[in-house]
Formats: sequence, C-alpha cells, structure tokens
Amino acid sequence: MARTIVSVVGGRAVTGNGEGAPAGTLTSVNPSLLTDVVAEVGLASAETFAAACAAAKQAQPAWADVPAPVRGRAIAAMSRIVEANKEALARLVTRELGKPYAEALGEVQEIIDTCDFFLGEGRRLYGQTVPSEMPDKQLFTFRVPVGSVAVVTAGNFPVAVPSWYLVPALVTGNAVVWKPAEYAAASAMALFELLQAAGLPEGVLNIVFADGEATFAGLEQALQAGTLDKIGFTGSTAVGARIGELAGRYLQSPCLELGGKNPMVVTPSAGLELAVEGALFSGFGTAGQRCTSLGTVIVHESVHDEFLARFGAAVSAAAVGDPAQDVVYGPMLDQKFATRFEEYLGWLQPHHKILGSTGMGKISSANPREGFVGNPDAGLFYHPVIVDGLHASDALFRQETFGPIVGVMTYARLDEAIELANAPGYGLSSSIYTNDPREVFQFRRGISAGMVSVNNSTSGAEAHLPFGGNGKSGNGSRQSGIWVLDQFTRWQAMNWDYSGHLQKAQMDVTELVADLDFRLKT
Ligand code: UN1
Repeated sequence: MARTIVSVVGGRAVTGNGEGAPAGTLTSVNPSLLTDVVAEVGLASAETFAAACAAAKQAQPAWADVPAPVRGRAIAAMSRIVEANKEALARLVTRELGKPYAEALGEVQEIIDTCDFFLGEGRRLYGQTVPSEMPDKQLFTFRVPVGSVAVVTAGNFPVAVPSWYLVPALVTGNAVVWKPAEYAAASAMALFELLQAAGLPEGVLNIVFADGEATFAGLEQALQAGTLDKIGFTGSTAVGARIGELAGRYLQSPCLELGGKNPMVVTPSAGLELAVEGALFSGFGTAGQRCTSLGTVIVHESVHDEFLARFGAAVSAAAVGDPAQDVVYGPMLDQKFATRFEEYLGWLQPHHKILGSTGMGKISSANPREGFVGNPDAGLFYHPVIVDGLHASDALFRQETFGPIVGVMTYARLDEAIELANAPGYGLSSSIYTNDPREVFQFRRGISAGMVSVNNSTSGAEAHLPFGGNGKSGNGSRQSGIWVLDQFTRWQAMNWDYSGHLQKAQMDVTELVADLDFRLKT
C-alpha cells in the first residue's frame, strides 16, 4: 500500500479533524510505471500554509539564538545523514520522478556538497570591523537572518535544489516553510525527515503540501499577517512573475530561479565530438526537464551539416527508457509535463526538419523507438526531437520547451550568434564550444546569461558557484556558494562612539592640509 504523506507544521503532522487534507488528496505515481503509486498526498489549505509561516516566525528567534557554529554542526550532521542514506534517497527519486539512477545519485551528492560548503559557514558568517572617520569610534557590520522564509520548489530536482535554499537559510538562523512540488512529495518528505534527524527544534523546518493556488493564497495571508519575511521560488517564469508582484507589494524581493531557453554556440574551431556529447547530455538528459537544459544549438554555417549529422546519429542511438537501467533519459516527471510537451510538439512547422528518433510523441509499442530499454507502454516516455532549421520568429525558438526537444539554427558571424542566443529574453545558462580565446571572451561579454560554459554543456553547474539568471530567468538573485548568503541575511551596520561626546560625521572630521598645487621641479 502506498504511504500517506501530510504536512508537518511546528513538529506536528497535520492530520485528523478534517484538517489533514482539507484541500483534497492526490497520488504521486511512478512515471515509468504508472500503476505504481508512490504516495498518497494530503493537500493543505491556504490557512495551513499561513499557519506554518506563523509557526516558523515563532520558532525563528530561538533558532537565531543558537550559536551559529552550533547551527553549523546541525548542517554537518545533515551531510552525514544524507550521505548514509544516499542510495535509498536516490532510489526513491528514480522511482518517483523517473530520473536515471546515476543522475539521482548525483542529485543526492549535490545535497551533500551543499551541506559541506555551508557547515563551515556557521563558524564564519563574517561581518567586518571598519575604521571610523573619527577617533574613539568604531564601525561594524553584522549579518542578521531575515526571519521566516517560505521556499517553493519544483520537482525536477526534488531534493538537490530545495537543499540550495534550506541549508543556507537554516545555517544563517532563519526558520523555513518548505512547499515542494506535489508530484515529488515522497522524495521531499524523505529529505525533510533526513534534515529533521539532525536535531532541528520544532517549527524551525516545516513542510507543507499544497497546490499552487492554496500556496499563493497562503503566501498572501502570511505576508499580510507579517509572518513571512522572504520567499524563495524555483519554477516557471509565469508563476515567478506573480510571486515577484506579490512580494513587491510587501516591499520584499524574492529569490527567483525560473526557466531558461539556454543556447549553445558551436563555432568553426569547436571540437564537434565534444559539442555533440554536450548537446546530447544537456538537451536530453533528465528528458530535457532541467532549467539548465539546452534549448537551441546555434551552429556556424560552415560546420552545421557535419554537426547535425553527428548530433542526429548520437540522439538516435541514445538509450531511452527504464530509469533504473543505464539510459540517457527516462520518462517525463509527471503527466502535466507530458501533456505540455505534446502541446510544444504542436508548434512544429513545415519548414522544420526533424531528426533523432524512429517516431514522434509518446513512445509506445504502437509508436516504438528503436532500442528502447524496458516496457514503453508502462510510463510517460517520449521520443527525442531535434528540430533543424529553426527561425528566430518560431515559438519553438522563443519559448522554454521543458522536454526532450532541441532546436538547431545557423549563424555566420559571432555577434549574430550572440544576438540569437539572447533573443528569447531568458538568461540562465549558456555555452560556447570554441578553441579561440577571443571568441570565449566576446561571448562572455555579450551573453545575457548568469552562467556561461566554455567547451562544456549548459547543465551540470557545480554547487558552489553563483546559480541564477536574468531577464525571464529571474530577478538577479543568486543561489549557492557565498552569494546566497545575501538572500538569507541582511546587513546590519553598527557604529560605536566611545569618545564621550557627540562627534558629527562629515562635520567634525580632522582635516590634513594638502598642497594640491605641488609639482615636481624637473
Ligand atoms: C534546475 O534544473 O532547476 O546545473 C537546477 C544543473 C543542476 C541544477 C539544475 N546542477 O543542471
């Protein structure tokens, strides 16, 4: 029987008296075996969401009083606990989201890496001592936690990306309400339990399962009540814009990690084999369902035919299917992504040339893919699609298309390639394959993306560099590494005058007399 999962608020499972699932229940199913129900999920109402924010707000001051190095020890414990459960958590991620097991192990490793980076932050959280312009006065800066934080995450990285928020938020002394994607509820609950096992006091970390509308209404209620100080959101550009608008009304700036239409430029000097390998991994790995997935290859006209032939051959030969086996990609994460992907396929036009598979749309025994691994009828498997001959006016070029589809187009001059790379208006990840350093720096300067790969694919960012985008990909916030500290702390400036009298800044400052007319006599 599938496990029933409910929200946990203030250390208490929200069950009974009709409050367990006032907004109904849903089932989280295995997308590679749709008959396998992974969990029954009780959905919470907006009121429960707001109550969780209130619980976090209440628990936060005591958590902030725990010395930061002790909070860091909790993060160290999380790292060890997650590591000890690495295979079990990865197996669950593979079962619930259809991520190939090797990738799921990498995802869990990303949590461990994140903990390993931040466990020491408890012993740093550096502020500065700054000289004053007056004697007997000292200036200081302190990082202070923002307070209560709501984190709303997607299910394509059901545990790694949440850890990018939860770990730094907790080590810096905030309390958190985490709202994971409903279709990733079992993986989320597992991570919640692993983090909780590190000894977090009740109410410091809360988990709420709710649908989008209840979450949005809950955020609004909490903002109104003054029990929510920061929102972190990973998801679509459209929802990110709504959250930004809501937060802005309360003078808050959310941490937004949104979609991407990530370009890869392949220049004449590129190693084509390497570029093809990168395009295969970032275009079709995770079935193209990463925010860093490759959107469009912009390839120089002189190497287009050879690149396309090799790319087409690589994608045609790629193993697709059962994520427990050695495949490039498995199923779509959930029915809603499968449905949307079919809509994107409706954007194909007669001027497009299609490559990459033995069929189009849903893979099944009636619409087979050569070399498919496993039973195609059991899950949400889709044929990979390469679309050559993309035009800059095509919807397929301009919009994010979450799924196994990659566009290809040509360019003549690098400035034209950069213009095409920026044209869709996103700005998350980007990549250039070249052996010419001048092209590397011209691309880096011109590209609007927050992340630039050189001779590497658009996905697979390491967990300690700033992660985030511009334009339709985000509001400039950055996650990971030291940079995310500015999301979860605010700078407090302190000045301490111990001279015993009022010294007025800018006015009571000693001046040295300089001879500005002084010139060397040569
Ligand atoms: C995401 O898809 O939301 O860089 C994050 C990458 C991963 C993270 C992706 N480390 O592809």
